[in-house]
Amino acid sequence: MLGGLQRAWGRRQSAAQPQRSPVSSLFKPFLPQLRLRRLRHRQPERLGLALLFGLSGAAATAVALGAVGAGDGGARAEAQGQEIGVYSGRHYNTDKALYQQFTARTGIRIRLLEAKDDALIQRVRSEGRNSPADVLVLADAARLDQAADLGLFRPSPSAALLRDVPLNLRDSKGRWYGLTRRLRVVIVNPKQVNPASIRTYADLARPALRGKLCLRDRKSVYNQSLVADQMILRGEAATAAWVRAMAANVRQAYFTSDTPLIRAVGNGQCGVALVNSYYVARMLSGDGGAADKTLASRLKVIIPTPAHVNITGAGVLKSATNPAAALKLIEFLASPSGGRGYAEANHEYPLQGSGNDPILRRFGNFRADGVSAEQMGAKNKAAVRLMESNGWQ
Ligand SMILES: [Fe+2]
Repeated sequence: MLGGLQRAWGRRQSAAQPQRSPVSSLFKPFLPQLRLRRLRHRQPERLGLALLFGLSGAAATAVALGAVGAGDGGARAEAQGQEIGVYSGRHYNTDKALYQQFTARTGIRIRLLEAKDDALIQRVRSEGRNSPADVLVLADAARLDQAADLGLFRPSPSAALLRDVPLNLRDSKGRWYGLTRRLRVVIVNPKQVNPASIRTYADLARPALRGKLCLRDRKSVYNQSLVADQMILRGEAATAAWVRAMAANVRQAYFTSDTPLIRAVGNGQCGVALVNSYYVARMLSGDGGAADKTLASRLKVIIPTPAHVNITGAGVLKSATNPAAALKLIEFLASPSGGRGYAEANHEYPLQGSGNDPILRRFGNFRADGVSAEQMGAKNKAAVRLMESNGWQ
């Protein structure tokens, strides 16, 4: 497989480029980020990849997916032999099964590189026109907007995407499209805080929560997007007052990721916190081990009304040599059937409706606030400034 893989990743090198060993030179700069990330996430599938990585070097991180099946349809036959490169900030084994499904349907093979979102953005920037990637998948509206601002995506109009992706979850110029939804929810330890006392994000500013509220720091793009969302919904002055009052409620050091924050609320170190829905669902599913499952089961999840919705999404890159096939993949992932698999892989919500995830169903229904992901992304820098000047550390 490796020989084929190397050929696949090396195909973009033009005669003008100096000849280099395709895979190893392409992926070497990723080594530190990939190792770090695997350690941080400690997910079994990541560990597997990390081991491969450590043993056989950079080539192992690129995964060629899906054997091409026997072609029967005309379009499919035409697609035989086509390949696209996908850079993805997602990292779930079930994604790979979905990509294989796409290959089986269309005959288009996928070469996959998974890494941290920000590293991938920088990667595509530095590779420029020679990038072997056709599609970039990123978590969070702010990152998608950033990649669009950097000129990495090409506008890709698509009737299927206009139909399947709600207006507020896609870029108005068609440079990126939302694929799954996640909510920033409130989690409460009922021994410390009465869950009935919190209905909205604004309630986290109540003085009764002094010393009970714990927050992740302002470097988190998830928090930045929530603040941008509130600025759009409630205006700058009200959001600044809200951030100030929440910061006054925080007595403990700010957290650097969501999962330890969930554990801290579960074990009573904190009374209430803000986290992404899928992290709680993942812990409740037992994927993170029995101890995490027990901790998460002590929590009450409150979806504020209206709820702040964020997305993972994707766009066709300017560097794409096969933009039509790249767009086909995005259309598949946004379609009700493909999208369901993409959402369920990470306990996320599909683009429309609440999906069938039994754990998410236990969280109850929600009403989305309807804020545009594009506007939220555009407000990111202003949100960071507002957080900085109002005490969100
Ligand atoms: Fe995340």
